Amino acid sequence: MSPVRNTKLSIIGAGSVGSSLAYAALIRNSAREVVLYDLNAAKAEAEVLDLAHGTPFIGSSRITGGADIELVADSDVVVITAGAKQEPGQTRLDLAATNARILGKLMPRLVELAPNAVFILVTNPCDVLTVVADQLVDLPAGRIFSSGTVLDSARLRWLLAEAADVAPQSVHAIIVGEHGDSEFPLWSDATIGQTPLREWTDRAGTRLFPREKLESLTSDVVHAAYKIIEGKGATNYAIGLSGARIVEAVLHNERAILPVSSVLHGYRGINGVALSVPSIVGAGGVLRTLDVPMDDVEIDLLHRSAEALQSSLAHVM
Ligand code: 2OP
Repeated sequence: MSPVRNTKLSIIGAGSVGSSLAYAALIRNSAREVVLYDLNAAKAEAEVLDLAHGTPFIGSSRITGGADIELVADSDVVVITAGAKQEPGQTRLDLAATNARILGKLMPRLVELAPNAVFILVTNPCDVLTVVADQLVDLPAGRIFSSGTVLDSARLRWLLAEAADVAPQSVHAIIVGEHGDSEFPLWSDATIGQTPLREWTDRAGTRLFPREKLESLTSDVVHAAYKIIEGKGATNYAIGLSGARIVEAVLHNERAILPVSSVLHGYRGINGVALSVPSIVGAGGVLRTLDVPMDDVEIDLLHRSAEALQSSLAHVM
């Protein structure tokens, strides 16, 4: 019998996002070994201890961590959550310069320690930082990408599920583009179960998703993080679960289709910018971006999102 492979996930940054990701990964058994690293030793050690105390109630995952970057050595996946976070009133793009500097220090060292890892950027603005990270190190295409709009798509699926009174797992809809203000849903191929979303009715036969409803749902998704940040200062649980889900796609070589963000080369005419499009994710990271059907409005919105990201990139590169 071949021994079970010891999958190793390292999380950089033990703030609310990194710690929640570790918590989600432990509960979901995403990796055999989870490492939580932070410059702040006291914070990292306290989070690790708190998480470790819960491990008798989970599967076979183990948590370690601290302020020694060497702990990351030989990881299979490294998720980066470190950096300044949005304050109320700030956009994600406002964080670009500060977090690009932090990444500049981290990335080369992380690749040195874990040369075969897949690197997943969660720190915002995650699309911009994906391009920055990609240029800092020399890794094969697809090995650096960001969580992108996996979270935003989950927010959309939950909103649609609540409105239709069905399970969110039965809603098939995604948000693409920037993980930020210019993101948008691909309504043209969204379904609930097998029913095209726009044809979904309630018991009385009334269509639940006319154009105005779709517009207000889009706005709810775009503003979701702002609303949460106003109320509690940060978002953490849903991004933690989204991150764990993406890690599993890589570690289990699932070839799952997820709206993650990678640097695009010739995708519908977009070059050198990272934004989310449906992508096949497995061992090795993003294995392929998918040329899914989009109507003219959606193609136009995708280009506008790419332009917004391009102008933000111009400020940090
Ligand atoms: C979120 O969307 C702030 O990017 C973070 O929750």
